[in-house]
Amino acid sequence: MTTASAPSAAPAAPHIPVLVEEVVHALAVAPGETHVDGTFGAGGYTKAILEKGAARVIAFDRDPEAIQAGESLVALSGERLTLVPERFSRMRQALTARGVDRVDGVTLDIGVSSMQLDQPERGFSFQGDGPLDMRMGADGPSAADFVNQADESELADVLFHYGEEPKSRRVARAIVAARPIARTGELAQIVRKALGHHPGMKKDPATRTFQAIRIHVNEELHELEGGLAAAEQVLRPGGRLAVVTFHSLEDRIVKRFLKSRSGSQAAGSRHRPAANETGPAPTFEAVGRPVRASEAEVKANPRARSATLRAARRTAAPAWGTNEEGRER
Ligand SMILES: C[S@@+](CC[C@H](N)C(=O)[O-])C[C@H]1O[C@@H](n2cnc3c(N)ncnc32)[C@H](O)[C@@H]1O
Repeated sequence: MTTASAPSAAPAAPHIPVLVEEVVHALAVAPGETHVDGTFGAGGYTKAILEKGAARVIAFDRDPEAIQAGESLVALSGERLTLVPERFSRMRQALTARGVDRVDGVTLDIGVSSMQLDQPERGFSFQGDGPLDMRMGADGPSAADFVNQADESELADVLFHYGEEPKSRRVARAIVAARPIARTGELAQIVRKALGHHPGMKKDPATRTFQAIRIHVNEELHELEGGLAAAEQVLRPGGRLAVVTFHSLEDRIVKRFLKSRSGSQAAGSRHRPAANETGPAPTFEAVGRPVRASEAEVKANPRARSATLRAARRTAAPAWGTNEEGRER
């Protein structure tokens, strides 16, 4: 059992971790444990877990820039931190490759980091102008590839489902008419023009479109499903899962997963029958109530306003059937 002290002077983190105390509490980190931080970002959660005396944190991020920026923390942690440039949906394979079979805790902090949002050249933001990229990782088609190549109905579907944009068809039509589009600023203007925009509007009308395209380009909802299934596979009996999400599409996935895996969902999903005497045994228990940020935290960090934390404890039952990607069959 290791009880090494916490890394002291960690590099300044521009991303303010959300609900970090609540996450560490839900993870019930004990000295000597091994934890997975599936979304390293600026390392806020990892640092907090190490400070609680974890012997080892294996932290994933699909963004090579986040991994590179985290290297200094590896040294500061006394090598208790291992950084893995990989999607969290592949955590089981990555852990196996490192000789780790089971872990005591898994945490996921879903979405983009402030560093990604705040750099116009990453192409996530409609507030600054940059290339229309939006990829968290360095691979796969960019947002520009998608908006310039997708047909109008596919665009409309993505905006409707991932952005909950009620005027998705109108926006999709405007995008197709304006192609090719290369910059975030151009796209934001096209959406604003299509939906009507006046100064003083509470929310920029481009918000939903940018969210939708980002989710699509990064396959974020598939990743979340894969990450939850992977966590189910790697957590030891009694291990803890803590997931923070930032909008209802993501929270719904976590809520449904924990409901079905804890056996409290009467009807099965369309993927599998309900958990009953003949179905698989519950793999999670002690599913906590959703936790939201305090008023004080929201005041200090407005990004915390939409955050929801859900947590649960792994039972000893075998993980439900998953495919090689860790996704639901
Ligand atoms: C909200 S930030 C995490 C912030 C972190 N908890 C902290 O305290 O600094 C999300 C991070 O997760 C990464 N990420 C998002 N989806 C991912 C995935 N499927 N696999 C691995 N990393 C992912 C993003 O690149 C980003 O750096």
